[in-house]
Amino acid sequence: MPKTRFAFVGTGGRAISFIEPLVTRYREHNALVALCDLSPTRMAYYNRKLAGAWNYGAVPAYPADQFDALLRETKPDIVFVCSKDSTHHDYIIRALHAGCDVITEKPLTIDAAKCRAILEAQRASGRRVRVAFNYRWGPFRTKVKELLATGVIGRVHAVNLEYLLDTNHGADYFRRWHAHAAESGTLLVHKSTHHFDLVNWWLDAIPAQVFAYGDLAFYGRQNAEARGDGHLAAYPRYTGEPRAKDDPFRLDLDESESFRGLYRDAEADSGYLRDRNVFRDDIDIYDQMSLNVRYRTGEVLTYALTAYSPREGMRVSFNGDRGRIEYQEFIGTHMNRAVSPGDFKIEDKPGAEAEGESIRVFPHFKPSYLVPLPPATGAHGGADDILTHSFFSPDAPATDPWGRFAGHEQGAASILVGIAARDSIRDNRPVTLSDLVPLAPAATKLSQLI
Ligand SMILES: NC(=O)c1ccc[n+]([C@@H]2O[C@H](COP(=O)([O-])OP(=O)(O)OC[C@H]3O[C@@H](n4cnc5c(N)ncnc54)[C@H](O)[C@@H]3O)[C@@H](O)[C@H]2O)c1
Repeated sequence: MPKTRFAFVGTGGRAISFIEPLVTRYREHNALVALCDLSPTRMAYYNRKLAGAWNYGAVPAYPADQFDALLRETKPDIVFVCSKDSTHHDYIIRALHAGCDVITEKPLTIDAAKCRAILEAQRASGRRVRVAFNYRWGPFRTKVKELLATGVIGRVHAVNLEYLLDTNHGADYFRRWHAHAAESGTLLVHKSTHHFDLVNWWLDAIPAQVFAYGDLAFYGRQNAEARGDGHLAAYPRYTGEPRAKDDPFRLDLDESESFRGLYRDAEADSGYLRDRNVFRDDIDIYDQMSLNVRYRTGEVLTYALTAYSPREGMRVSFNGDRGRIEYQEFIGTHMNRAVSPGDFKIEDKPGAEAEGESIRVFPHFKPSYLVPLPPATGAHGGADDILTHSFFSPDAPATDPWGRFAGHEQGAASILVGIAARDSIRDNRPVTLSDLVPLAPAATKLSQLI
């Protein structure tokens, strides 16, 4: 059987999570045929790993402006998009028109016009698009899906989801491109796409309308100065800055081999600084967001995201007409995969305590009980390994009993909540999602979307 040919666009921190397993555990059935990125230095970092630790051999590295040549010359079957969020649509669309299937990191894209263009390119090409929603594949979250789908609390009418990003992981979004709405779509798209997708999938429902509030309450120069932390805003970046020695928000790129190779050594290529001061002036995203979502089938979600919390995790409660489920996960702080254990002494930072996960069912008129949890180890609570297996293994089933594969329409259903929330905050009004992108108007369940 010929190997499936993969090309990767975007060779930053995240791509390691997929490239490493592809060229090691899954190399018998798959081939990595090319890399593409704005930064030759980052691609060279990957090629050193490919030739060295992963014992695979270097592959052709195409600068971003030669992506069409990559498609022509290396003929990938699947283009895997791991670049900055605002660039996803461009690579997805060009790959589809070249006859490739696509797997893209979340978010599918960052605004309604780009989303419509992706859906149009998919229709025209007939090729397959998958969104790498790893959260769905976490064993605990799949267990929640199983409980809801089997009717343990009857029909669910309302969901509350509070997500906390801590002053380590949450702050990291304010150091780099995520801090600009034009590049990340704000955390309402970049981060919350995970959470909106989870709720869409848990409820098997399609979001219809959103009302939202958002503020920049903690990060940014003005906020630091107003609460007497102006000294933390005194320098533009952290690496090599003696005044940042005791700064709790400090990230020194020289302290980590992977950060030095991927980011510090690559600064001259594209001007991308990975460690900018989180209390600088040019941040235009929110660090606290709250919103309500009404679904096509009537359910309501109350959602809050805080990006400056002392702890990291989420609490979700489902109110059904036969009872209630409370799910929580406090798995400790984490940053992206390029950070090796021990780097930056993240584990030592206060507030990083892991409380773990629990699911408790409260049936009406009966005692509550804890649900035994499946084992989970590995990155993102075990989700990354299971997701990777589904992408790369020939043994992975084509269909999934819990409907965990997400295509372009399900990817759109999730980002549209965040995109609508942005409009709602700007205009102080409820926003109807079908006014942004008319997504399968007759469908009532998420599982009816591709
Ligand atoms: N599912 C998850 O758990 C998870 C975790 C982290 C990141 N991600 C996603 O993965 C993607 C990459 O994130 P990251 O953390 O690796 O970020 P990163 O900044 O480390 O890497 C982004 C890469 O995109 C490249 N890039 C920027 N503009 C480009 C262009 N025009 N053409 C080609 N390449 C370009 C950059 O040079 C960089 O190498 C993002 O879409 C992010 O949302 C997902």
